[in-house]
Amino acid sequence: MTQTVFVLNGPNLNLLGLREPEVYGAETLADIERRVAARAKTLGLDVDFRQSNVEGVLIDWIHEARTKATGVIINPGAYTHTSVALHDAVKAVDVPTIEVHLSNIHARESFRHHSYLSPAAKGVIVGFGSMGYELALEGLASLIGRA
Ligand code: DQA
Repeated sequence: MTQTVFVLNGPNLNLLGLREPEVYGAETLADIERRVAARAKTLGLDVDFRQSNVEGVLIDWIHEARTKATGVIINPGAYTHTSVALHDAVKAVDVPTIEVHLSNIHARESFRHHSYLSPAAKGVIVGFGSMGYELALEGLASLIGRA
């Protein structure tokens, strides 16, 4: 049976390509989605790729993953640094979750150094740009026995 991985993207990531390209690169979220889908295919995984600017929507999607996904990859955007609710959502569902950041949050402003999500995540990938999503997928595939 094909397993599904949710790839969830938080606020402002819909503007990738336009948004601070010197920090986040020139690729759009649609470009990243294509790369992730291609990698997922080689790993025999289905990917459900989504983006929302709304914290509660991201929380609902994490809850949905409980019954519909075998893994979650999430770039929570700025909610990383503010959201206890996202932390609690990841803890509440028993689905391995990998946190991804395009930029190296530890090399940026101090308010980005702390992640509320990281203690709830299975793993964290920062600073590899869009490749981070593919690395997360490979890690997840290995965790769930698909690679
Ligand atoms: C980000 C890093 C966050 O600090 C920032 O608020 C983002 C993007 C990243 O992918 O590097 O929106 O999550």
